[in-house]
Amino acid sequence: MTDAQTAPGGAAGAPPRVFSGIQPSGGLTLGNYLGALKRFVEMQDSGVETLYCLVDLHAITVWQDPAKLRHATRELAAGFIAAGIDPARSILFNQSQVSAHAELGWVLNCVARMGWLGRMTQFKDKAGRNRENASVGLFAYPCLMAADVMVYHTTHVPVGEDQKQHLELAREIALKFNHDYEVDFFPVVEPVIEGAATRVMSLRDGTKKMSKSDASDMSRINLTDDADTISLKIRKARTDSEPLPDNLAALSERPEARNLVNIYAALSDQTPEAVVAQFAGQGFGSFKPALAELAVSVLAPINDEINRLMGDVGEIDRILGAGAARADAIARPILEQTYDIVGMVRAR
Ligand code: TYM
Repeated sequence: MTDAQTAPGGAAGAPPRVFSGIQPSGGLTLGNYLGALKRFVEMQDSGVETLYCLVDLHAITVWQDPAKLRHATRELAAGFIAAGIDPARSILFNQSQVSAHAELGWVLNCVARMGWLGRMTQFKDKAGRNRENASVGLFAYPCLMAADVMVYHTTHVPVGEDQKQHLELAREIALKFNHDYEVDFFPVVEPVIEGAATRVMSLRDGTKKMSKSDASDMSRINLTDDADTISLKIRKARTDSEPLPDNLAALSERPEARNLVNIYAALSDQTPEAVVAQFAGQGFGSFKPALAELAVSVLAPINDEINRLMGDVGEIDRILGAGAARADAIARPILEQTYDIVGMVRAR
């Protein structure tokens, strides 16, 4: 047995630790907020150590204008803080400042199999028909994501529904590493996909996910939208002419209506059942204004705070630097143990 295999902090009995990430590739949407960020804040208050990462290395798997990427990274950091992440209680940082992510990512590139990565739906969607022209980074994306969580011996990862497949792959990679090297070193992570808004849909098409890359800005609410824009987008959201029913089952064939009910529920910390019970029999002529008022009351203060924080980017950079130092202090020893397990000679 090597030192690494007997070191404390192995998979068995790993203390709970939460990690999640968001790409700084454009602004935050209501989907990111309800599916991820709002839940990050709840977990921060759960008494478990929480690490939240702006995954800039993932962002460059597709082309990013350098100046826009820098701005988006700072604005995303401001979004986290404005939404309630406290950099004193959570570790908030950007991925490229903690090189252990990329280093472990390389090791995991050598563990994962081409076939596993080729099956990832996000790769297929983003690469489209022209796979030959996709970056190698886009293909290897899930290995870096597995490294993000594994390099902290993370146990729980709060995400929206669309990240489930990537986290299942991260579990496979951890299991294969432990198996190949005959260790019980990496914990197998638990995706935490919970709440009314794990999949917020487009406001224009209830069968498509709300996304920052959708060509139509009317399809999404951005955290940087002002109150008038939020109200307009909700007023123009596609719906049907039926009133709301008194039970959720009756919404199964009405994806746009169901989406607005879910959004209302997540914004007001209620269940979708409670929302339909409250609005049963009412049409969208009264439900949409209520939803717009609720959305503005939650999102406008966040928007104001983002704008205030962006007035001092030096302070944002300082927060990210301090977070990176704290993250590095956890990641570096785990990376060193990994190198030891795989047989690299290290200075002692
Ligand atoms: P990203 O940047 O696309 O999205 C960040 C988070 O927001 C969630 N999300 C949604 N949730 C509900 N409804 C939606 N319409 C919606 N759109 C986005 C996502 O599920 C995600 O939780 N690969 C990740 C980033 C990442 C990561 C990680 C996450 C890199 N490393 C390690 C967790 C752990 C991504 O592209 O998320």
